[in-house]
Amino acid sequence: MAGDMTAPAAVAPALFLGAGPRPGEQLRAHALAVADAVTAASGRGRPYSGADPAALAAAIAAIDPCPEDGIEFEDVLAGLAGTVLAHGVDVADPCCAAHLHCPTLLPAAAAELAIGATNQSLDSFDQAPAATLVEDHLVRWLAATLGLPDGSGVLTSGGTASNLLGLLIAREQACARVAGHGLGAGLPARHRRWRIVTSRGAHDSVRRAAAVLGLGTDAVVAVATDRAGRLDVAALDGALAALDAAGDEPIAIVATAGTTDLGAIDPLAPIAERARACGAWLHVDAAVGSAFALSPRLAPRLAGLERADSITADLHKLWFMPIGASALLVRDVAVLDAVHHHSDYLNRADDQADGVLNLVGRSLDTSRRFDALKILVGLRSTGRRRMAAMVEGLVDLTAAAGRAVQEHDELELLAPPSTVTVVFRWRPAAGSPLPAAAVDAVNVAAQRALLRSGRAIVGRTRLDGRIALKLTLVNPLADEAGVQRLLELVAGAARDARAHAETAR
Ligand SMILES: Cc1ncc(COP(=O)(O)O)c(C=O)c1O
Repeated sequence: MAGDMTAPAAVAPALFLGAGPRPGEQLRAHALAVADAVTAASGRGRPYSGADPAALAAAIAAIDPCPEDGIEFEDVLAGLAGTVLAHGVDVADPCCAAHLHCPTLLPAAAAELAIGATNQSLDSFDQAPAATLVEDHLVRWLAATLGLPDGSGVLTSGGTASNLLGLLIAREQACARVAGHGLGAGLPARHRRWRIVTSRGAHDSVRRAAAVLGLGTDAVVAVATDRAGRLDVAALDGALAALDAAGDEPIAIVATAGTTDLGAIDPLAPIAERARACGAWLHVDAAVGSAFALSPRLAPRLAGLERADSITADLHKLWFMPIGASALLVRDVAVLDAVHHHSDYLNRADDQADGVLNLVGRSLDTSRRFDALKILVGLRSTGRRRMAAMVEGLVDLTAAAGRAVQEHDELELLAPPSTVTVVFRWRPAAGSPLPAAAVDAVNVAAQRALLRSGRAIVGRTRLDGRIALKLTLVNPLADEAGVQRLLELVAGAARDARAHAETAR
């Protein structure tokens, strides 16, 4: 009964930490049950069940999200095990290789429980005192590790959000250069001349950020790349000269350290020189490559990163953290004032006088998770040496995969591997040629058939207008034999697709 004041006390103890006679017992039981359920759902010997999408949708639609009376936790889990957990992708399966989507460090995954159960909210100190200081400590460490010794930043939900925040700062810096322009006035008329210069290999989130920031996707100037997918510095010079001649202003240059498809690391130092010379903000999207900083062997490939004004680093890629875990790092924390808004209930003047940090002043979010905890737990449990060894192992595995593609009769390597991606295509054997469109169709069919059967999840993209397949090797459990098996699966599926197309003709 709604007005019955005793009812909540009668039902609450088992639901909340800190209540009931044996605090924590319920949480421990739930944690064990979850651990058992996810373990049972993993290691199926294939990365996906291959469930028919319509049948899966129907099974999920049949779940009552909020039954009138609650169901025992173990029964809820058991119900979801067959419907949901069994039909997830297994990121630890070596044949799950489409995306920058890694298996997660178990200590970090376990720390998610602490994040959820303690529910610190990173917007204000009075909702997360130690958590606020942990995040501040962590982002300073990350900034220093990536070459900004006096830098800082903020955690975000992902690389898309970090790129948006980096470009928002660039836009606010440009606004500040327009005489008499204040934050309240929106964009000055001059914004129609503002451009964001990046490479053709940059992540799509750069264009999305331009749209969200009111500059429009046409404000993004995409510069040509070389065969390995690195921004071509001569083309950048040409693009900057053309902007100058047209009276347009490059407010930001976005370099990428590890592009999504080819894994290319742009030449950061020459790009930094151009940014400095034309007064543009230098944002480096190191969503992929940031983990190279942990390895003395790989870190030199990030030379020039230390000249960035802002950096995106995704911890849920090559740092093996559970999604979401990303950071936007800046050389000077004062630039994050671009998102600082006074609010009487969160960000009070007397807090500042007390030396209290309210991270809402650095973020586009208000309530925000304590993701710093899982990162801290994951990194401290694993240690730099093992982190570096895993990243180095993946770069070596990718190079080996590139060689295996080159040596394969039916596969063609489309670009030299740079970091953790191999981009390739099935091709017909010499003596049985096919038109390019038919080759593309076979590659599409092979990728789709593998996903449908659940045997392998490989990436599919376009390179110079043609279909390309992609392996993204971010699973430290994968080895060369596994990659070879994966390539054979692709070649076999392509052979089947070609035979099918020929009989259908
Ligand atoms: C280079 C790069 N930047 C940004 C992103 C976006 O990251 P997220 O998916 O975490 O938003 C990606 C995603 O793959 C990426 O490859």
